[in-house]
Amino acid sequence: MDRVDGRFKVTGAAKYSAEYALPNMAHAVLVGSTIAKGRIKSIDTKRAENSPGVLAVLHFQNAPKVPGYVQAAHPSEPKPVGQPHRVFFNDEVDFNDQPIAVVIADTLERAMYAAKLVKAQYTEEKHATDFNKNTSKAFLPTAAQRNPKHPLGDYTRGKEDAYKTEALKVEGEYVIPTEVHHPMELQAIIAHWEADNKLTVYDKTQAVIGTQNAFAKDWGIPVENVKVIATFVGGAFGNGLHTWPHETAAIMAAKKVNRPVKLMLTREQMFTMVGYRPHAWQKVGMSATKDGKITAITHEAIGQTSSYEEFTESTLQQTRMMYTSPNVTTRYRILPLDISTPIWMRGPGEATGAFALESAMDEMAHVIGMDPLEFRLKNHTDKDPEKNLPWSTKYLTEAMQMGAERIGWSKRQLKPGSLKNGEWLVGYGMGVGTFGANRGRAKVKAVLYNNGTLVLQSATTDIGPGTGTAMVQIAAQNLGIAPEKIVFELGSSLYPPSPSQGGSATVASVGSAVHAACMALKQKLMGMAAGNKDTAFKGATLETLMFKDGYVSLKSAPSSRLSYADILKQQNLPEIEVTEESKPDDARTRYSMYSFSVHFAEVQVHPMTGQIRVTKLVSCADAGTVINPKTAGNQMIGGAVGGIGMALTEGAVMDHRFGRYVTKDFADYHLPVHADAPNIEALFVNKPDMINNPNGTKGIGEIATIGVAPAIANAIFNASGKRIRELPITPDKLI
Ligand code: MOS
Repeated sequence: MDRVDGRFKVTGAAKYSAEYALPNMAHAVLVGSTIAKGRIKSIDTKRAENSPGVLAVLHFQNAPKVPGYVQAAHPSEPKPVGQPHRVFFNDEVDFNDQPIAVVIADTLERAMYAAKLVKAQYTEEKHATDFNKNTSKAFLPTAAQRNPKHPLGDYTRGKEDAYKTEALKVEGEYVIPTEVHHPMELQAIIAHWEADNKLTVYDKTQAVIGTQNAFAKDWGIPVENVKVIATFVGGAFGNGLHTWPHETAAIMAAKKVNRPVKLMLTREQMFTMVGYRPHAWQKVGMSATKDGKITAITHEAIGQTSSYEEFTESTLQQTRMMYTSPNVTTRYRILPLDISTPIWMRGPGEATGAFALESAMDEMAHVIGMDPLEFRLKNHTDKDPEKNLPWSTKYLTEAMQMGAERIGWSKRQLKPGSLKNGEWLVGYGMGVGTFGANRGRAKVKAVLYNNGTLVLQSATTDIGPGTGTAMVQIAAQNLGIAPEKIVFELGSSLYPPSPSQGGSATVASVGSAVHAACMALKQKLMGMAAGNKDTAFKGATLETLMFKDGYVSLKSAPSSRLSYADILKQQNLPEIEVTEESKPDDARTRYSMYSFSVHFAEVQVHPMTGQIRVTKLVSCADAGTVINPKTAGNQMIGGAVGGIGMALTEGAVMDHRFGRYVTKDFADYHLPVHADAPNIEALFVNKPDMINNPNGTKGIGEIATIGVAPAIANAIFNASGKRIRELPITPDKLI
């Protein structure tokens, strides 16, 4: 099935947050700091204020007070693990390009011009932004210190650091740079105070309800007085999972000028104001027997965070559960720097960790002279070795076999540099990915009308995977209605609450609520049909009835049927309505639930120039039932392109003299384009996980990226014999 909103998107009818034009709307532009650490001595806003069209210039001295900005943590509370940046709260500067003022004008151009006229004087302090020079400041996250059982804490299974005393071992340090989400759509908000205590925002977010709660708390107003609209979202990858300073700046601005205010970040501001994948250092030590059994893994990681917030991610999670090693040690630390706080970015943590773990797997296989696929199959686990629980489902072996066949793995040579295509060296590599098959609590309202149409509503979002399409299909399958007769409405806080679209959990969460709503509607239809004068249905139950093509019929006598529309009409009902909530059940305490993926790359490396071409990429997923092969395939392909970016092109570069990024746009920060990407093939095992949820699905979004970068790095080694442990692998590192 095609995307239900595909036509809207390709014709431009889909409205994104910045595309609404409210009457009397003003425009806001942020001014960023030009130092990385210190205090604002003074801000000169005179010239900006006198500039044509300017309505106001706000900064820490005159911005409307945000009641929810807590002054300081209560002394009796445990040490807080951070305070999200409070825009215009005081004179402190915590990172370069931190918003220090917002200029509001009647047009965008006038606001942009005036923003350039704002000048600040600072008392500068020495900043620390260079990861390598500050690693000694890394520490165990507070949450893990408070509770040693916390997943971020140190972990040992068997003997600690057991690899060190083994004969056959590898040891390597791996580095990934700061990576930035950079969805096509820039972060944007339109804030509109409809009354003193009534706020509407058109906001780019992955979390309609989360955003609603955050702003209600900030401004001390009832939750129901905050309306959040995010009907269409042009990609996000994690940066919409949090509220950010620019949103509050726009809301302040709207309050000040008493008009709706639009604020859209520039591409440059996307580097500093809406999170990023943190720079990380990792070290993996691994040992194995000669015949390919892993005996020990130690995996350590340090991720960067800001000075004011402890951002953590599950970088080491997969190392604890992926392979059947009797000895596993993991240690995770974070390093605070004078930079903005990171945020989850597609495959958060795991994508970083997989680069190290799956590279080390390749290195270990090479040392013992074994095919890396065979090595992984030898260390496959039939149950979760960390939690000591059975998997709900795991078809990773099947995925590996599918992918190996598709890429032509049998052509791979054990000895690097063995294959050539003209001048180019050819190599093959693989990488495995995994991510928790999450599911959250979600609510869906469903209204069946007496013309046979169905409207579903839920406050989820669609950042691109095709949520509405999948939900329509789930409803169509479960209620027996043609997809054309179903509408799924999302992206509004007026709809029943759903979790944020994150952690690859939307279909499992919201899809289960759609399933529940369909079951409830069936129950109602059955009751009405059974109570009907048509005696054929008398005493019918859900088991004896069939719901198909908009008709109820007896399984034993399909020809005597009654349409849903007629059932309602006979009762004189214009519609029937249900609202159902679905939440994860206790199966989660008895099973370990993960999605799995494996990526196979074929690359060509030019021995003279170091140029790298990914010539083939095959991604295979064990992600439960695939509701829609087209949108699921799109997810996999998009994730793989993200993995190519990680492996070869992406990295935010900072000039540490100023603590400021020198990469500012798509010329400096290169996202893979078509010329960088081969024809990527996505394959699915497509076997249901009925323990996870009634639709049998597991998430796709994260595993699409996790494991791609190491697959490419491993293929580069196989082609060239060069092991590059620092991303991105640019030509200079190969020559
Ligand atoms: Mo994803 S990092 O959960 O948007």
